Amino acid sequence: MTVKDFIPTAYKNLIEKGSYIWSSPSNIALVKYWGKKEHQIPENPSISFTLDSCKTTTTLRFSKKENNNEFLFDVFLDGEKKDDFKPKIETFFKRIEAYLPFLKGYYFKIETSNTFPHSSGIASSASGMSALASCLMSLERSLSGVEVTDEYFTQKASFLSRLGSGSACRSLEGDLVVWGKHDEIDGSSDLFGVKYPFEVHQNFKNYNDTILLVDKGEKQVSSTVGHNLMHNHPFAQERFKQAHSNLSSLIDVFKTGDLKSFIKIVESEALTLHAMMMTSMPYFILMKPNTLEIINKIWVFRQKTSSNVCFTLDAGANVHVLYPEAETEMVNEFINNELVAYCQNGHYICDRIGFGAKQL
Ligand code: PMV
Repeated sequence: MTVKDFIPTAYKNLIEKGSYIWSSPSNIALVKYWGKKEHQIPENPSISFTLDSCKTTTTLRFSKKENNNEFLFDVFLDGEKKDDFKPKIETFFKRIEAYLPFLKGYYFKIETSNTFPHSSGIASSASGMSALASCLMSLERSLSGVEVTDEYFTQKASFLSRLGSGSACRSLEGDLVVWGKHDEIDGSSDLFGVKYPFEVHQNFKNYNDTILLVDKGEKQVSSTVGHNLMHNHPFAQERFKQAHSNLSSLIDVFKTGDLKSFIKIVESEALTLHAMMMTSMPYFILMKPNTLEIINKIWVFRQKTSSNVCFTLDAGANVHVLYPEAETEMVNEFINNELVAYCQNGHYICDRIGFGAKQL
């Protein structure tokens, strides 16, 4: 697939008004995307677990408008009008207009709600952009008048999501999604996420992710700024090579169910992501003291027990605690006894891997 494959031919149907509802989850990267080229093309391939309960539900209502000369829309979060969300969506619409030429022909009312609290420090961009992109694809499907296969629908929804927020393109499917060209992964692409195509051992089915909310505040440095600091970063090229090789190693890990190797790769990826931030110019730190306390507690717990619990981080202070389904009881007890104390107001979210966007 190339970019041109996502430019539609003339639509055959006329639709005056209607609505679509989609829900789409967040995702957590195991091999991290950090650094991008123009048009949200990643510098290296990444792979993520799709989440299940952390998701956004979006209703897109649309009605045909008189002229075609501007984008016209309103955004609501939990029923409340959110004009401060508009610039981000306007930018998204501008980026995708060439691929969805109907955008200026409609007024859109975008109503969205998240299952996780807005101020939890969990970014809603992946779930939000992928839910909106899916709604827009439903409209395109109705307008097109020719058969749109599910495969094309999902690929284009992922392609559009990427233009909204890079990692959002990994939220359309599950339970493991690869984004970015990798020589050993058939079908992988810089343009959209694809379902991981190889064998995955039973050990990784229903994997748990308990998200410990260490700091619910706004990030001091946005991921857009962070990605840009990878340009001219002294360690960038080595980091991009490392991501390719970590993803290669994971292929065997997923096949054999080797949890010890999984832990090494995933924790190293998390710390490398933050090492890139700390060695950027200007440098910055998103981890908090409690992030490190939790990491140390996890390491001590692993030493004392046979547990395969491990952690990963996204671009913030919160800790994603990952563990196999078979260890649910043991690790939940550990979290309650030893880790909850480090969460802001004792808050955490129990999630597990899931299967992507759904039309409601
Ligand atoms: O999708 P963005 O631009 O918010 O970047 C996300 C980057 C990380 O969450 C840190 C890593 C990843 O691959 O999701």
